[in-house]
Amino acid sequence: MAYQSVVTGCGSYVPSKIMMNAEFSELIDTTDEWIIDRTGIKQRHIAAPDQFTSDLGCAAAIEALKSAGKVASDVDVIVVATTTPDNIFPSTATKIQAKLGAHNAFALDIQAVCAGFIYALAVADNFLKTGQAKTALVIGCETMSRIIDWQDRATCVLFGDGAGAVLLERQENPERGILSTRLYSDGRLYDALYADGGASQSKHGTIRMNGREVMKNAVEKLGSAIENALEAHNLTIEDIDWFVPHQANIRIIKALAEKFNIPLEKVIINVEKYANTSAASIPLALATAVTDGRLKPGQLIICEGIGGGLTWGSAVIRW
Ligand code: UT7
Repeated sequence: MAYQSVVTGCGSYVPSKIMMNAEFSELIDTTDEWIIDRTGIKQRHIAAPDQFTSDLGCAAAIEALKSAGKVASDVDVIVVATTTPDNIFPSTATKIQAKLGAHNAFALDIQAVCAGFIYALAVADNFLKTGQAKTALVIGCETMSRIIDWQDRATCVLFGDGAGAVLLERQENPERGILSTRLYSDGRLYDALYADGGASQSKHGTIRMNGREVMKNAVEKLGSAIENALEAHNLTIEDIDWFVPHQANIRIIKALAEKFNIPLEKVIINVEKYANTSAASIPLALATAVTDGRLKPGQLIICEGIGGGLTWGSAVIRW
């Protein structure tokens, strides 16, 4: 008997306020052309002052439950990936649990920044495979706008707010499911991308990044993560229906596509609309592809992402 975690639902939410690139020209020395040329980003969504990360995550979770035909009381575990929690403690996951009314679940947060959704997926997958839970809600949600330094032109144009969620169900010998997750980290690169504050520093930090170093590492590390994932399943690029990368920069996405000879038509890209939404970016891309009809049950996909830590990882999923 082999148990696997099957994705049975998917949802997303973005706040209604859209901020276009041109609006940054009033705040800092930048242009719409520079941002599009260097990142591919055209706009991002920004949470309303009274909207918190849990609100975004909860809205995406409701959609995921609905698309799976499930209700909140069916959920056994809620795993939330976020780097912008509502409070230092308790977890944003317990807030979402209460809002949803998922009173049969236990709930926890995962902090792996932009790789957070892959990490959360791995944690939930293992709970399901070991039988500790049967139904898992995995949510990536962020209000990155709250930790941006709006004077730092090298970072403030890059991020946006949003949320995405999937529902996973433990099934016996299914034809679909999560085939594997692979997680990596290298703390020696801690200073390449970080927030310059935190609870033990008694300071609310903002994002600091060595963009070139992160970019170089992203192409190299995600490249080997893709290679490892393909090799482990004896797969070739041709076997994969969709590549679902973390949406940080179109240049990283294109560099990887070029390296592996992946036609861009097989890559889900929405960075132009949402910018980098950190842990929300991969589930937002999944929801985009499900909603527009590209991603269908039975197709084989690879998700991959990298973020502060550095942390990175991949997931191979028969959708
Ligand atoms: O989600 C986690 C993963 N994060 C990432 O993957 C981010 C990875 N890095 C990147 O996406 C890119 O490095 C950036 C988009 C952040 C920057 O692009 P770049 O091509 O690496 O530019 P750069 O940092 O080398 O800067 C080139 C120039 C600099 O000016 P000088 O020194 O050549 O005069 C910057 O000061 O561009 C300048 N610059 C800007 N100019 C106009 C930096 N930000 C801006 C800006 N507008 N917003």
